[in-house]
This record gives sequence, structure tokens and C-alpha cells, in this order.
Amino acid sequence: MDRAVFLFQDTILVGNRAHLRDVSEVELPPETILGLRMLQKSHEIFVFMSYPDEADETATAVEVERLQKHVLNLLAQYGVHIKCLPLSPYRGTEDGVRLKSPFSSLSKVAEEYRIDLPNSFMISDHLGDVERAIGAGVQGIYIVSERGAQPQSAMPPNCLLAADIWDAALSLMEKNLSRHREEILPDIERAAVILKSGGVVAFPTETVYGLGANALDPIAVARVFEIKGRPHFDPLIVHLAALRQMRDLVTRLPEQAQALMRFFWPGPLTLVLPKSDLVPDIVTAGLPTVAIRMPDHPIALALIRKSGVPIAAPSANLFGHVSPTTADHVRQQLGDRVDMVLDGGRCPVGVESTVISILNGTVTLLRPGGTPLEEIERMVGPVQRHPERQTIPVSPGQLPHHYAPRTPLLLKGQNLPESALRRGLLSFTIPASTEGFVAVEVLSTTGDLREAAANLFAALHRLDTMQLDVIVAELVPEIGLGLAINDRLRRAAQK
Ligand code: TXA
Ligand code: MG
Repeated sequence: MDRAVFLFQDTILVGNRAHLRDVSEVELPPETILGLRMLQKSHEIFVFMSYPDEADETATAVEVERLQKHVLNLLAQYGVHIKCLPLSPYRGTEDGVRLKSPFSSLSKVAEEYRIDLPNSFMISDHLGDVERAIGAGVQGIYIVSERGAQPQSAMPPNCLLAADIWDAALSLMEKNLSRHREEILPDIERAAVILKSGGVVAFPTETVYGLGANALDPIAVARVFEIKGRPHFDPLIVHLAALRQMRDLVTRLPEQAQALMRFFWPGPLTLVLPKSDLVPDIVTAGLPTVAIRMPDHPIALALIRKSGVPIAAPSANLFGHVSPTTADHVRQQLGDRVDMVLDGGRCPVGVESTVISILNGTVTLLRPGGTPLEEIERMVGPVQRHPERQTIPVSPGQLPHHYAPRTPLLLKGQNLPESALRRGLLSFTIPASTEGFVAVEVLSTTGDLREAAANLFAALHRLDTMQLDVIVAELVPEIGLGLAINDRLRRAAQK
């Protein structure tokens, strides 16, 4: 049986702006889009559609229906698919087709769609509706809108409070986390306290492990550089768990940036934008811009949310070394230099985020990464490639010696020195021959670039511990995540 989230009712999708008459007035809050996309990973989403009541003075039936269709189409464009439950106009009379009351209909809906009601939720911004839903056997989430918030004492027990649909999605995600990994929430709480008091915590993201500190605390950020052993200050990525935080950190949020956030957040995409005075210079290495992303990892999101501050974090490796994709990689490199390593297992994406700058209307790729460039271009049109050679790297991830294992690495086809006897092979897929190699790592037996990216750094780490004279790496097809993989391999080969 599936778990469901019921939305009561469709007006909540548009932030409950009353008296919408025309589709041109519809604006989907990004919190709605990101929240629903997150919720649909674990829940079936239903929305109770208000009946276009012709007697209503604000809009005609035709107008309301057109508006509702428009909202559903918009959501579908952002990859959100919800089921509609039309409400009956004939309240109090029997009607087989339309539903009379969302609350008395829940059991019928549950039967038809095989929904596990006790583990499902009703989201509403009217406390009365939340109460009725709880009475009908589901759990409740009360969205506290600015207007008409109820005192907390009036809340039914066990009802979750949320600022918006995104916040509601994070609450449910945390609940899920504790169901599956009971021990992790206390660890996250402890890590959040450390971050709040100026400490440094290594934490998992969907790309690689990050070495995090409160982005608004310059001393805490300085410790991050110290721990990494960076010879100079590089600009760091600021990690967020709420879009609201974004608005304080940048001075401009161009249309292209908003579109990319709506499509790809949370996820492996970093946006470089003009920074506000709130962001300390040490975070941006004196640049007038700041790099920001919202990671797509439940532990990272829960940690950032609980800490209540934006988290500045580079990858949790020593300067110039391979990025960590497991907690063990972090412990090997940074050991007890960090205040805490939050173990979230393996990072599912495995390469760092794609870094894109949006300045003066120009969208530029600064670092290929976990979000394929093709997908970004599909959303915002052509993206400038960063000029290959620069005396001062605009994005220090562009330094050639980045991402290097300690063992010399050559690309397949380059001349091998005679003296290199112990050779390791890093192969994209199952190699035709492994002759001459004492160790072989296959990134993806099926030739899948996603899987290859996820395995890349762990494979390099393993080869790096084998006392090899050389690692021979094969480039992968240069499409999708292949761009990011080859970028890392070429840099490692240039050491
Ligand atoms: O997936 C990731 O991005 C990981 C996880 C932990 O989020 N983080 C990561 O951080 O890879 P780091 O510090 O290893 O790489 C950050 C990249 C660097 O290439 C840096 O130069 C670039 O982002 N960057 C940061 N701020 C910038 C800015 N204001 N302008 C241009 N590039 C910037
Ligand atoms: Mg790094």
C-alpha cells in the first residue's frame, strides 16, 4: 500500500492567493514545486479540487477550471504529477461521481487507490480542516500562513507545523529518516549544535561529503581551510535547506537562476550569483559573488534545517586530493581534525555539483558536474563554456591538479614509462583485456554513466591504496555525466 499526501484544497498550491481570475496571474511559489517534487518520491499526491461554483462572485466556473488546468500543467512541466479529486457542488445530496466532503471520502479514496491512511497526511492552511482530517484517520500538517495563524495551544496533538509545502516535505523526510535509521536523528541534532557553536562537521551530500561550517561565522569558516590544508582561500559553496535563506544571501536573483532552482533543486547544481553584505568575504575569497546550492540528501537537508544557518562547505578532502564519497574516505584524510563526521553511507551521485554562474544575463559553466549540461541548456538555452586557459582561475576547481590521487595517473593511450611495473587500470566498463595490470577497477559493468560517476572517486581511492606505480585511466563517452567524469580524469592526469 502507498502512503499519500492529500492537499486541501487546490488554492494551497498557489500560496492561497484569493481572487485569481486569469492564468497570467498564477505564480507557483518555488516552495510548492520543490516540496511536491520531494513528496512524490515517497508519497502519492492527491489534491482536492474546489468545485467551480457559478454562484461565486469572484470567478466563473469556466475561469476556475481554466486556472486549475493551468496549475496542473505548470506542475507537470516541473516533473510534479498529482491526482485530482473533484469536490461535489451538491453538498448534502448523494452523488456517485463527485466527492461530497474530502473527509468522509478519504476511506473511499484509500480503497480505490490502495492507500495506507494512518501513514498518510492531509496538508491544509486551515486548522479546522486539519482537525477534521485527523478525525477521518490521517495525520495532519498545518501550513501556518502569515495571515490568520492560530496559537500553538489550539493545535491538535501530533499535528506537524510547516511554513510552506517545502517545509512540510522536509518534516516528512525527517520522519522517514527516523523510521529507517533510528540512530541518525540524534547524530544530526548533535552535529547541528556543533555547527551552531562554530564547529566543523563533515556531512554527506548526494555528490560527495562536505566539510561544513556556519557560513555566517568567518572564524568557523577559517577552520575549514585550516583543516583542509588549503594553501590559499578558495571560494566555498554555501548550502541551503530553504529558498527563503537564498533571498538574504544574493542581491539579484535573475530569471534564469529562478528557472534553474525550480528545475534542479534540491540537487547537484551550484549557482554563482552577486553576493549580499551578509556573506563574509572569507566564504567567497573576496569575490563579489557567492556560490549556492541546495543538496538533495536527506541527512544534509535535515542538518542544515536544524542548524538554522546556511552551511559553507568544500568537499571534505585534503587540498588537491580525491573527493570523499564515503565517511571512511573522510576519516582517512581528515581523521580527528574535524569535530564530527556524520556517516550517511555512500554518496549516490559521486561527482561534485555542476557550477554555473549567472552574471549580467550570461550563463556560464564553471565546472561540469552531477547535473548534465545538456539538461541545463534545455531549460535556459546555450551556456557559455568557461575559457580553458586562464592565468587566475575564476573557479579554483579549475586548477589542473585538483581531484588527483597520490599515484601518478595517465590517460589510456599516453606513453607508459618502462619503470612503471605495478600498473592499475581504471576502466569505464568491462575491459577487453587486463593483461599487464595488477589491479583493475570497472566503473560500470553495463556502461552506465550515472553508475560510473557514483563509483569514480571510490575506485580512485582504492587504486590509490595499492602501492601502484601508475594508474591508467580510460576516458568515458563525453555525454551527460561523462563530461564531469572526463574533466576529473584529465585534471588528475595533469598533476
Ligand atoms: O558537490 C559539491 O559541489 C561539493 C559538495 C560538498 O557540495 N562541494 C564542492 O566544493 O565540491 P569545493 O569547494 O570542493 O568546490 C567548489 C567549487 C570550486 O570549483 C570553487 O572555485 C567554485 O565552486 N566556486 C565557489 N564559489 C565561487 C564563486 N564565487 N565564483 C566562482 N566559483 C566559485
Ligand atoms: Mg573539492
